[in-house]
Amino acid sequence: MMLHYRLFELTKGIRNRVILKAVIGISITASYAAQAVLTARATEGIYARREWADIVTIILGIITIIGVRALLLWGNEAYAKRASIIVKNTLRQRLYGHLLKLGPGYLEKNRTGKLQSTVVSGIEFLEAYLVYYVPHVLVTIIGAGVILGYIFTLSISIGLIILSAFLIALFGPRLWNKLMAKYGWSHWQAFAVLNAQFLDSMQGITTLKAFNASKRRGNELERDSRDLFQQTMNHLKISLLKTGVVGLATTSGAVFAIGLGALFVARGELALSQLFVLLFLCREAFRPIDELNRYYHQGFMGITASNTIFALLDEIPEIAESTRPVTVKSKEALPEIVFNDVEFAYDKGLRPALGGVSFKINPGETVALVGESGSGKSTAVNLLLRFFDPIKGEIIIGDHNIKDYTLEDLRSLMAVVSQETYLFHGTVEDNLRMAKPEATKEEIEKAARTANIHDFIMTLPEGYNTIVGERGVRFSGGERQRMAIARAVLKDAPILLLDEATSSVDTANEKMIQRGLEKLMVNRTTLVIAHRLSTIQNADRILVLKEGKVVEVGSHFELMKLTGTYAKLIQAQQEERCVQYA
Ligand SMILES: Nc1ncnc2c1ncn2[C@@H]1O[C@H](COP(=O)(O)OP(=O)(O)O)[C@@H](O)[C@H]1O
Ligand SMILES: [Mg+2]
Repeated sequence: MMLHYRLFELTKGIRNRVILKAVIGISITASYAAQAVLTARATEGIYARREWADIVTIILGIITIIGVRALLLWGNEAYAKRASIIVKNTLRQRLYGHLLKLGPGYLEKNRTGKLQSTVVSGIEFLEAYLVYYVPHVLVTIIGAGVILGYIFTLSISIGLIILSAFLIALFGPRLWNKLMAKYGWSHWQAFAVLNAQFLDSMQGITTLKAFNASKRRGNELERDSRDLFQQTMNHLKISLLKTGVVGLATTSGAVFAIGLGALFVARGELALSQLFVLLFLCREAFRPIDELNRYYHQGFMGITASNTIFALLDEIPEIAESTRPVTVKSKEALPEIVFNDVEFAYDKGLRPALGGVSFKINPGETVALVGESGSGKSTAVNLLLRFFDPIKGEIIIGDHNIKDYTLEDLRSLMAVVSQETYLFHGTVEDNLRMAKPEATKEEIEKAARTANIHDFIMTLPEGYNTIVGERGVRFSGGERQRMAIARAVLKDAPILLLDEATSSVDTANEKMIQRGLEKLMVNRTTLVIAHRLSTIQNADRILVLKEGKVVEVGSHFELMKLTGTYAKLIQAQQEERCVQYA
């Protein structure tokens, strides 16, 4: 029997369904037991040459029971299908909600494919476990318990024989548990690896092709699936061995019980009619446990999946919501942003990505952050959005520490355009609307015009109703960036964060994006990260980051005069441009 001690917690919201499923199962078992008793009576009646009318009545009773059971079996399947869907949805929502709370910090540290196998396949296994295995454990204990109790009233010694066989069948497999756990875990691991590897290959298919690596990758995939096959076979071998033991216990239990019964009848200690009842009821006492055995695989995969799911549910979100959040002032008033000696490291022990950074962006001001790649620019944005919390110092937006806002309020204050823009599977309009769900069509179109993407959208086969291919295949980098700007225009937040919004696009696109951005920046507090001169020259102030520290502050001309880090960066860039245009 495989039950997790935290199972009760997992059945929250679906308990009634599990119980109803068990009740149907118990009724089915009861119908088998009743049929056994009636069959015994009929057989005994024939032997004892009783009245035909009596025997016919019994046979009619048996036929009725078979009819009722057919209905119950059908209902059982139909109900299981319904329950499956609801159980899956309930569990998915719970896991998804928790993943959202864990946030990007957690997702970055864990391989997407593995997470996918926990959330998608893990739930499939768990659903089979909760809908089939767990109710059947109840059926086995209650159904077989009642039958066994009845057998005890016939003969205590026969009852004891069946009880011991029953206990061996129920708990004997525990001897295998360690082995099973090991093989079950390797089986699960192999499954998760193949899943992750496959997802990775699909997502990186262009890279694989470009490096002529698809064949090599294919070989790796083949190796992984062979490994999965091997692990499945190992798991099955052990599990078949176990099935054999259970079968042996139930069969020999029944043989001993009936043999003893026959002996008792010979000695006159048991009526023949009772032996008949025993003969038929023995089979029924063991039926639920045989069936439980058939659900064994689901049981084991379910237990294994529940371990990974509990591990995920136990992850504590790094970012805690404020218990007494402040209310956001009207978004009309432009907020200031203050970094006060902010220190942050992605991993303890690593060099901090930001090492004691202080600066202030006045309301409505545009401040540029520049610095070599890896100097900590994006980290500042991640901290502002509270994807992570600083380990020292504080970040203040509009008079409050950002920890004092609810996450939702905090993020509603900011619009972000970053280097990578994700377009979801759905229409172009849906993709824009996510920035402002209640936006009218006119607002959406206006935002698209501001972002210089409207004309492009109109060239798509169905305009705003065109479905965006997965991972935005039909949008170039520049077009995706302009979609991001349109989203930011729609969101209309008082703070604008631009993180290398133009770095991955060509010059023609850059000009278009630049024009979109300029319109967007009007009347907002803006933090702009860019390594192209054109984007930062107009900033009110420029902060230069080096290895997580602010090393220079000033306007473009002031910084050029310093001939320090900034001047070097700009010079390197100009040389790069010369090479590009040469
Ligand atoms: N998610 C992350 N996990 C671990 N280290 C990270 C992560 N993101 C960035 N870093 C590290 O933090 C440092 C600063 O990175 P980042 O802020 O992204 O730099 P920039 O945006 O200036 O290129 C780098 O050393 C980088 O390797
Ligand atoms: Mg960056």
